Amino acid sequence: MNSMLLNIKDAADVIKEGGIVLFPTETVYGIGANALNDDAVKKIFIAKGRAQDNPLILHISDMEMLDQVAENISEMEYKLMDAFWPGPFTIILNKKPGVANIATCGGDTVGVRMPSNKIAHDLIKESRVPIAAPSANISGKPSGTKLEDIFDELKDRVDYIINGGETDIGIESTVVRVIGDEVKILRPGKITKEDIEQIISHVEIDKNVMGEISSTEKVLSPGMKYRHYAPKTHCKLVYSKDYEKMKKAILDLANDKDKKNVLILAYTEDLDNYNDYQCIDIGSKYNLDEVSHKIFSSLRMIDDYKADLAIIEGMPLDGLGLAIMNRLIRACEHDYEEIK
Ligand code: TXA
Ligand code: MG
Repeated sequence: MNSMLLNIKDAADVIKEGGIVLFPTETVYGIGANALNDDAVKKIFIAKGRAQDNPLILHISDMEMLDQVAENISEMEYKLMDAFWPGPFTIILNKKPGVANIATCGGDTVGVRMPSNKIAHDLIKESRVPIAAPSANISGKPSGTKLEDIFDELKDRVDYIINGGETDIGIESTVVRVIGDEVKILRPGKITKEDIEQIISHVEIDKNVMGEISSTEKVLSPGMKYRHYAPKTHCKLVYSKDYEKMKKAILDLANDKDKKNVLILAYTEDLDNYNDYQCIDIGSKYNLDEVSHKIFSSLRMIDDYKADLAIIEGMPLDGLGLAIMNRLIRACEHDYEEIK
């Protein structure tokens, strides 16, 4: 790491010279490079220890840049971009020849997003190239939503850092692909299924969003098949529509005599139920924006408690709940129990 200033021009120079920059977006921090420079993009994969078959999202600052990276865009795709850009929304499009093969892992599609965060926008504009950027974290760890969480693990792996404070949203963008007359959600995010249904009538959630993927399966979004967000501590996700049943199931698990040190990640309103245990407050169950804002920092705290088990309270799968549960089920490596 060479410097840490809020200087967009210097950061853009690093991008133009083929370096990599840690920068904020409205969702999570990203590690960015010139998307049109294979050697620069390669550095991102090395910095993160990222699998070679997991493509990167290309970030653009205006619609002219879109023409540099994608082609044969349909009316429906334009309608979606028009509704949700700039913002936490990524759309998989037909790739234009010439876009760095490394960024797209040699595929014929490209994920594109126009962020709304001003620093991200200005950095792309000043660099005058689309910026390929995955979430800022070592692969497998929770994405970074504030610099303190990721500074130590990434400071020596990037050429420049921009500190933008805590990110607004806290979970990564919604990723969609248009297939026929239907929009498929490959990764849920702040833009929900319900939001997209206001624009397009057929919206489907890919089965891999909550399902477990076998190692041989071909998937629409490669990122979904890797171990993700998981602390070293064994985590278990528990949910029931019936509040009393959820509380009882969690207390039964926590009371297990073999477990000496249990940690519970609970909503603010439920903390009193678990007075005998160490708890992390994940935010109010009536304010899922707060939960999504805090979730990755909460997951990063788990290992500090040296618990034998961390139990996490779940939530319904509608609205923003789907996006949060998609991250939590991965943090728990699919150890999820829904009590009917
Ligand atoms: O909010 C975000 O999207 C953040 C910020 C930095 O913009 N970025 C981010 O990138 O989360 P990353 O690399 O951590 O996740 C990108 C996801 C992965 O699941 C990847 O497989 C998928 O998008 N993806 C990217 N390009 C794709 C493509 N051409 N086809 C299918 N999935 C793609
Ligand atoms: Mg990521």
